[in-house]
Amino acid sequence: MSKVIVFGSLNMDLTIECDRMPRMGETLTGRNFLLNAGGKGANQAVAAARLGADVHMLGAVGADVFGDSLRASLEQAGVDCGRLQRIEGTPTGVASITRVAGDNCIVLDPGANHVLRPKDVKAALDELAHPGDIFLTQLECDIPSTFAGLAEAHRRGLYTIFNSAPAVSVPRETWKSVDLVCLNETECEIVTGVFPDSDDAARRAMELLVSWGVSTVALTLGAQGSRVLSGDTWIVSLPPSVEVVDTTGAGDTYIGALAMARARGLSLEEAIAWATHASALACTRLGAQQAIPSASDVMSSLGTGVPEDKMSSPGTGLAGD
Ligand code: RIB
Repeated sequence: MSKVIVFGSLNMDLTIECDRMPRMGETLTGRNFLLNAGGKGANQAVAAARLGADVHMLGAVGADVFGDSLRASLEQAGVDCGRLQRIEGTPTGVASITRVAGDNCIVLDPGANHVLRPKDVKAALDELAHPGDIFLTQLECDIPSTFAGLAEAHRRGLYTIFNSAPAVSVPRETWKSVDLVCLNETECEIVTGVFPDSDDAARRAMELLVSWGVSTVALTLGAQGSRVLSGDTWIVSLPPSVEVVDTTGAGDTYIGALAMARARGLSLEEAIAWATHASALACTRLGAQQAIPSASDVMSSLGTGVPEDKMSSPGTGLAGD
């Protein structure tokens, strides 16, 4: 089985449920405070590991209780933390999250997430990576290090998965190093200038990303599921009907499932089915990492599931790539 190497963020999420979003200058009383492990990178690492992949985390936390707790959460999910740095004098990343009707708004202080540099990513790849492994990253770490990491991983023959979140402007050159990009509606609009309010608009935006050099585009659309474009393959994936409690980390679960599927040689269709069901299940539970389902939860949701023998054999990767 290929390895999944995640270069990404770890945040302690401080979340409060409210009836509505506060206005500027307003103090609002909420309820159901929750302190739990998050960060897009760490959430995606936990999702891939919990669903059955061999995952290695490359990131940094501060030398504080939040950092120690985030490391413990990753280790508990089976993620290798041998390259997770503990930095003195810089705090662990924190996310302040307001939850309204299952949806959320997030404000981040990246703290130690911005400490690692291109040389750190290169050193980790020297140590860990082999052609065919998966390199998964987002945009919550130092941006130049992230772009350098994608280029380096691509040059070494790794399969690169890029979650362009939170969206920033990405140099055209970087897209050539991306095998699979996963983004949501807001990120799609920022990156391509097209808001995907219909399947036609979604496809137009996704074709633009393909024209920049990306092989596979996965666009997540919340309750509308996701759309995937890979070569001539166009997939409309609709989620199972679930009772939504909290969507925090649902997109990360989708991406972690895609990485697991690639590492275990599932077809593109199987990968999307896993991602869709895993992220729907994540919405039924409160929090980020604590809401990510196990492989057996997802198999039950899928009904027929993906046979165990397929799950344990190395394969050729996402079909159509
Ligand atoms: O994608 C959800 C995550 O975004 C949260 O866990 C929060 O930490 C922010 O990084």
